[in-house]
Amino acid sequence: MLSKVPVVVAFSVGLAAAAQLPLGGNDGPYHHFESQIKRVAVIGAGPAGLQHAAVLRENGFEVRLFERAPGPRGNWLSTSELPVSADFPDRRIEDGAYVPDIPHKLPHSHVYHTGDDGLSLNVRWREQWNPSPVWEHLTSNSPSSITKLPEVDYPPDHTWTLSNQEIRRHVRQYAAYKGLLADDEEARNITSYSTRVERLQKPEDSSRWTLTLRRLRWHGAAAICADWWTEEFDAVLVATGDYDSTHTPNIPGVPEWAERFPTHVFHSREYRHPSSLQGNDVLIIGASVSASEISRDIAPHVRSFSVSVRDRERSSAYDQRNIRRFAANITRIPEIRRFYPVDDSTSVRDAKLELINGTIISGFDQIIFATGFRRSNPFLAGFHNSTIKGDENPDVDVAPIITDGTHIRSVHWTGHYIPDPTLAFTAGRPWTVGTLAALAVARTWSGKARLPNLQKRWEQYNGPQRNTFFSGLFGSLGHQAYHRQLIVWLNNEALELGGRLVDQFPLRKREEFVYYANLEWTENYVTSANFSRYDDTPRSEWGKEEKTLATDLHIDW
Ligand SMILES: Cc1cc2nc3c(=O)[nH]c(=O)nc-3n(C[C@H](O)[C@H](O)[C@H](O)COP(=O)(O)OP(=O)(O)OC[C@H]3O[C@@H](n4cnc5c(N)ncnc54)[C@H](O)[C@@H]3O)c2cc1C
Ligand SMILES: NC(=O)c1ccc[n+]([C@@H]2O[C@H](COP(=O)([O-])OP(=O)(O)OC[C@H]3O[C@@H](n4cnc5c(N)ncnc54)[C@H](OP(=O)(O)O)[C@@H]3O)[C@@H](O)[C@H]2O)c1
Ligand SMILES: *[C@@H]1O[C@H](CO)[C@@H](O)[C@H](O)[C@H]1NC(C)=O
Ligand SMILES: *[C@@H]1O[C@H](CO)[C@@H](O)[C@H](O)[C@H]1NC(C)=O
Ligand SMILES: *[C@@H]1O[C@H](CO)[C@@H](O)[C@H](O)[C@H]1NC(C)=O
Ligand SMILES: *[C@@H]1O[C@H](CO)[C@@H](O)[C@H](O)[C@H]1NC(C)=O
Ligand SMILES: *[C@@H]1O[C@H](CO)[C@@H](O)[C@H](O)[C@H]1NC(C)=O
Repeated sequence: MLSKVPVVVAFSVGLAAAAQLPLGGNDGPYHHFESQIKRVAVIGAGPAGLQHAAVLRENGFEVRLFERAPGPRGNWLSTSELPVSADFPDRRIEDGAYVPDIPHKLPHSHVYHTGDDGLSLNVRWREQWNPSPVWEHLTSNSPSSITKLPEVDYPPDHTWTLSNQEIRRHVRQYAAYKGLLADDEEARNITSYSTRVERLQKPEDSSRWTLTLRRLRWHGAAAICADWWTEEFDAVLVATGDYDSTHTPNIPGVPEWAERFPTHVFHSREYRHPSSLQGNDVLIIGASVSASEISRDIAPHVRSFSVSVRDRERSSAYDQRNIRRFAANITRIPEIRRFYPVDDSTSVRDAKLELINGTIISGFDQIIFATGFRRSNPFLAGFHNSTIKGDENPDVDVAPIITDGTHIRSVHWTGHYIPDPTLAFTAGRPWTVGTLAALAVARTWSGKARLPNLQKRWEQYNGPQRNTFFSGLFGSLGHQAYHRQLIVWLNNEALELGGRLVDQFPLRKREEFVYYANLEWTENYVTSANFSRYDDTPRSEWGKEEKTLATDLHIDW
């Protein structure tokens, strides 16, 4: 049953209403952009980057969209092409996703032939675009109601969850609708596919960002042409997603095994189809979505499968669902302490490994590391500080964006890099907040919405809720507050400065999600009241015990 349409109550998010645009100096309550922003770059053409590129165009910016893959769709560009092998152990985070390749003189072109630098052309091509981790039978783990882009639809009779191919077509449909496909004439000066951003820099004496770009093109089947060049922008939006770089735990002996048995030891990103494991004894490492979903996919095909699960409490609805989703007949084993040394005569089935409880096991044909991903952006060379671990927050001269690969930081809840808001980021899953987040960036860059001043941005970021608040799955208070905070701020600013009003997430879709989540996750995981209880309540009235200001970019959904 649908209840009444919610009213978005305009309440202040700490930005005092001022009747004029911030002009002159940065000591006023609002940020003042030094020069007018006209030409902007979007890095990444997944569901987030596409929405940003579209919204920025609609707001009058001259947009360039760069994507390392040969087409749009991001994570959903599912393909039988495999990414190049993951690193065992992880490469340093500065080069996590790839090692930037920048010639001394720019622009520059080079024609590669097979065997150059010991690489086949095919490997060179895949290293550049990093084929997506989505396997052939993967379906969404989110219902269609919250896995949808605005203005385009799934077929009316679609299922609750979607095949990856349906999402792929849906995202492509959005790109086509917004004129962002490579072969679209109006897109010719906008999109640049098969183009990897190698470096993003703002020279000391400049107010503009310089992007160093590298594009590959096939010349027939016998050569690949690489072009390098630079372009300048007033502002840059980074929409590269969280899954561009693998994580493999540095368990003793793993690198030796990976080198000795390269086709038998691999990351879940390289999994495509169960037929490749037919009749095998398989070991999966990990207890999250990739591990459990791959186990289901391979169950009817393998001879046996063991799953190595670390010993920790798994009581959250998310953890529990992952455990529940494992094929029923897996053999669950503890964490692995080490992989025993192997030599040229050891076969993979004879190779031994030791569990944390001291038991030694062997007899696996394939070992899949479903051990997750790291946030890596090698083009942000000047914004790394890998000595900072986890949530540690030392006082440093250059506010880092990438630290240990667990998250991005120094980014305000509006998406802007705090010290220089001409650089902005997307976070989390883009379906539910993507267009709002894009409007936040487009409107601040065009002077149609105001950002708090530098001090205030840091205060909000370092507030008591840092790292705990701005997180949570769709329907949780964290996600709700972020969503509402964006809507309220955008609408308040529109009231002052002009611009269209934005709307709530549609009520019917919330209800679909409630229905889905209670069946798929946990009974009473979320009810419609979780969404509606704040609909007519000003923020100042929200429960005191609950945290009500989004301060950090950490959303999970
Ligand atoms: C295996 C898997 C399954 C998933 N399943 C679901 C699901 O069921 N439901 C759901 O909601 N979410 C799912 N996700 C999360 C998924 O990330 C989001 O659905 C969504 O794709 C995020 O969109 P995005 O645009 O932020 O990032 P992405 O889709 O990852 O797009 C980022 C783009 O940036 C490009 N890029 C990166 N670096 C560069 C560079 N240097 N230069 C140029 N381009 C660059 C990449 O090539 C990519 O195209 C899944 C993720 C994984 C890994
Ligand atoms: N639509 C789908 O069906 C689908 C499929 C795959 C992925 N995804 C999405 O993709 C994202 C990434 O998921 P993911 O599963 O690839 O990564 P993930 O959620 O980061 O999980 C990584 C797993 O590796 C485990 N791990 C790390 N080191 C380990 C070690 N030394 N020994 C044993 N286990 C170890 C972790 O263990 P702990 O649990 O102990 O920390 C965790 O379970 C998620 O957003 C997910 O929703 C969706
Ligand atoms: C693309 O840019 C070129 C050079 O500025 C211009 O001549 C051309 O008309 C543009 N094409 C489109 C489709 O906008
Ligand atoms: C696991 O159980 C499923 C369902 O009963 C069955 O199809 C599959 O063959 C079994 N796999 C293994 C490895 O025992
Ligand atoms: C260690 O774990 C393995 C796999 O689960 C199990 O077979 C074995 O009995 C355990 N050993 C001890 C000493 O608990
Ligand atoms: C990185 O962080 C450390 C503190 O963990 C600090 O001492 C160092 O100066 C920082 N490096 C840079 C380049 O900012
Ligand atoms: C929904 O609200 C109830 C009651 O406040 C709370 O216990 C529950 O955790 C909420 N659900 C989510 C997903 O946050």
